[in-house]
Amino acid sequence: MIPDYLAEALGEVAADTTGETAGYIPELATADPERLGAAFAMVDGEVYGAGDIDTAFTIQSISKPFVYALALSDRGFDQVLAKVGVEPSGEAFNEISLESGTGRPLNPMINAGAITTHSLAGPEGLQPTERVERITDGLSAFAGRRLKMDESVHASEMEHAHRNLAIAHMLGSHGVLTGDVQAVVDGYIRQCSLLVTARDLAIMAATLANRGVNPLSGERVVPEPVVRQVLSVMFSCGMYDAAGDWATQVGIPAKSGVAGGLIGALPGQIGIATFSPRLDSHGNSVRGVSLFERFSSDMGLHVM
Ligand code: DON
Repeated sequence: MIPDYLAEALGEVAADTTGETAGYIPELATADPERLGAAFAMVDGEVYGAGDIDTAFTIQSISKPFVYALALSDRGFDQVLAKVGVEPSGEAFNEISLESGTGRPLNPMINAGAITTHSLAGPEGLQPTERVERITDGLSAFAGRRLKMDESVHASEMEHAHRNLAIAHMLGSHGVLTGDVQAVVDGYIRQCSLLVTARDLAIMAATLANRGVNPLSGERVVPEPVVRQVLSVMFSCGMYDAAGDWATQVGIPAKSGVAGGLIGALPGQIGIATFSPRLDSHGNSVRGVSLFERFSSDMGLHVM
């Protein structure tokens, strides 16, 4: 039943070939634009899917809410909130978007905030490689399997990382980042280069929907208050300058990535993931957005 429903929904959006693969990371521009998949992971551990749900792609910005969760768990709310706010920026994901005066990034879903939360994962004093290890372990626990990194996507993005380096230096000038800011950007881009499938992403989203416990492995990955904070910020900031449209039309906490992944998490119910690499002008998957609009209306998922 559910796989048939998913296959039919994929068939409907497949005709839409609008949008472009992410051009600013050369390795992503070469992705097969026709790939298309959708997966549902229920909080009782059932997983359903159709299409390309076992094709690996890089997680990109979908790592941001999960690393925010790890930072909150590892350092506590006060330390993280002192450095990263929770207000929507209404701007593109790669805008500088720092609070005037303090230099605090507006939220952890834009690059400025995500580079900062990357630096806050794990206990204080970790070496950059140890921090990447902490993040790989943490995201693997959300997925319920060991995730690997795509070294060529990492190398490709590093060659064109001027904007993220500029953001990191701005953060350094405000004292929001300390130490070797270039190593933080390298680690953040490694975090974005972790390989996942739509199935993995649905399970990761279901771990949020299940209030921090992976519904397949049974492992508690992060505490419940952390999940509430993360889902709230995903709701208001997860879709960048399209967050208001998303909140009204789809109405569930969500996060997109420039490799074409998109997740949504509905507390107590379901984690949803879609994969289709062509992006709209906000950097969100075109077919992914259509699929979520359909899922939300067919299944009454809008939280309002
Ligand atoms: O920092 C970047 O530009 C990328 N590694 C991630 C951006 C991203 O996925 C934005 N989301 N749609």
